[in-house]
Amino acid sequence: MAAFQKYILLFHILLFSLLPLKITSSARTEAEALVKWKNSLSSSSLNSWSLTNLTNLCNWNGIVCNTAGTISEINLSDANLNGTLTQFSFPSFANLTRLDLSNNLFDGNIPWEIGLLTELKYLSFYNNNLNGAIPYQIGNLQKVWFLDLGSNYLETPDWSKFSGMPFLTHLSFNFNELTLDFPDFIPNCRNLTYLDMSLNHLTGPIPESVFTNLGKLEYLNLTDNSFQGPLSSNISKLSKLKDLRLGKNNLTGSIPEVIGFIYDLQLIDLYNNSFEGKIPSELGLCTNLTYLALALNSLTGALPLSLSNLTKISELGLSDNSLSVRVALACTHGTPESRPTMRFVAQELSARTQAYLAEPLGMITINKLTGLQK
Ligand SMILES: *[C@@H]1O[C@H](CO)[C@@H](O)[C@H](O)[C@H]1NC(C)=O
Ligand SMILES: *[C@@H]1O[C@H](CO)[C@@H](O)[C@H](O)[C@H]1NC(C)=O
Ligand SMILES: *[C@@H]1O[C@H](CO)[C@@H](O)[C@H](O)[C@H]1NC(C)=O
Ligand SMILES: *[C@@H]1O[C@H](CO)[C@@H](O)[C@H](O)[C@H]1NC(C)=O
Ligand SMILES: *[C@@H]1O[C@H](CO)[C@@H](O)[C@H](O)[C@H]1NC(C)=O
Ligand SMILES: *[C@@H]1O[C@H](CO)[C@@H](O)[C@H](O)[C@H]1NC(C)=O
Ligand SMILES: *[C@@H]1O[C@H](CO)[C@@H](O)[C@H](O)[C@H]1NC(C)=O
Ligand SMILES: *[C@@H]1O[C@H](CO)[C@@H](O)[C@H](O)[C@H]1NC(C)=O
Ligand SMILES: *[C@@H]1O[C@H](CO)[C@@H](O)[C@H](O)[C@H]1NC(C)=O
Ligand SMILES: *[C@@H]1O[C@H](CO)[C@@H](O)[C@H](O)[C@H]1NC(C)=O
Ligand SMILES: *[C@@H]1O[C@H](CO)[C@@H](O)[C@H](O)[C@H]1NC(C)=O
Repeated sequence: MAAFQKYILLFHILLFSLLPLKITSSARTEAEALVKWKNSLSSSSLNSWSLTNLTNLCNWNGIVCNTAGTISEINLSDANLNGTLTQFSFPSFANLTRLDLSNNLFDGNIPWEIGLLTELKYLSFYNNNLNGAIPYQIGNLQKVWFLDLGSNYLETPDWSKFSGMPFLTHLSFNFNELTLDFPDFIPNCRNLTYLDMSLNHLTGPIPESVFTNLGKLEYLNLTDNSFQGPLSSNISKLSKLKDLRLGKNNLTGSIPEVIGFIYDLQLIDLYNNSFEGKIPSELGLCTNLTYLALALNSLTGALPLSLSNLTKISELGLSDNSLSVRVALACTHGTPESRPTMRFVAQELSARTQAYLAEPLGMITINKLTGLQK
């Protein structure tokens, strides 16, 4: 009798020590929440997500657990999922640090419960069909450093309810349906290095606080909105900028000379605005520039010779301005030795008073130039 009981006990110890993971009640809650959500999706590649496979929870497709055995990451990027977030049980995933649902077909709203995931550091819903206003509870995610809601149909919330996010370094709301003024919580996210609000319908001036507060910015993309007014000379306070993309807006006034003091700039795109006056000779100080787009403005005067110091430049757009020298450039193939340098282009453009416009080029590819035609 006693021997038999010992045998049973030993059997149990063996059985449990063989299980790959102790099923805690929170792991079961998480698994049940995932399966419930999976069942609401109309197409799914999530075969491993099954309650009969509970012991493998931490190896389910797209799931990563922490050492405590609860889920810390959900990554279903590019999983061809179609459905909504309505059935996603946010309160069940309080320990989640990464949530990546990018490149799927999710539609509907972003539920306000997203704000319950207070441990999140990385959140991407990039490239789905999400719509409705961005919930202000996203501002509760005070630990997030990466936030990408780009390429959806998201609309403008009441930005005044948002809090600044101190750790945020990467923020993209690009290609959505945002209207009205520049979101006023963004200048309070002072650690930003990457900001992309391009392809929305934002209006009004670019607030002064963008330039005075966001001194860590390296990448700023506001292309294709309806921003108005002059470009502030405070832009020179963005001293770490490498990429400045302000094309397709309605910016007016002159191009601030102090842009030339942002020495690390590699790309400047001011295409299709209403800038007037001369091209500042200070741009010749940005010797790392490879791309300079000034076409479709109302610029006047000659091309400054200082631009001949831009030895790394490969793309230059000047067409559709009122420059006193009209640019005539033939783009044909040639040997690398025969391609003119930026110095040659700048000297030619400054020397000639009239030139024949070969093609209405928005962008000249210097590498492809073989010469200037009369
Ligand atoms: C259980 O999950 C593991 C890990 O994803 C997977 O390899 C296995 O095929 C799943 N088993 C079943 C029965 O779905
Ligand atoms: C999610 O997975 C994709 C593809 O494996 C990867 O490129 C991406 O960086 C992952 N996201 C996160 C947040 O780790
Ligand atoms: C996504 O699911 C909805 C509802 O089932 C369906 O109407 C739609 O065609 C699906 N979209 C794609 C791209 O499969
Ligand atoms: C979060 O993790 C802690 C331990 O780190 C655990 O006690 C708790 O149950 C977890 N919560 C959820 C919802 O998984
Ligand atoms: C910027 O982030 C660091 C940690 O990376 C943090 O210590 C600091 O408080 C943040 N700065 C601001 C102004 O929020
Ligand atoms: C910046 O904005 C323009 C216009 O929307 C877009 O074509 C470009 O890809 C954006 N850059 C990045 C890196 O997303
Ligand atoms: C630049 O910012 C300062 C505040 O730091 C402000 O007083 C000044 O008016 C701004 N300059 C312009 C041209 O708006
Ligand atoms: C740009 O601004 C000017 C002056 O404010 C205005 O007359 C013009 O209509 C605007 N253009 C567009 C395309 O919004
Ligand atoms: C230009 O680029 C080089 C190499 O990428 C870098 O070392 C340098 O700091 C940059 N800035 C200037 C002003 O040369
Ligand atoms: C320039 O911008 C105006 C309005 O801002 C737009 O209607 C027009 O299509 C743009 N032109 C080009 C060539 O991008
Ligand atoms: C080009 O740069 C050199 C060195 O910084 C400077 O001395 C020279 O004046 C510049 N050339 C032009 C045309 O601005």
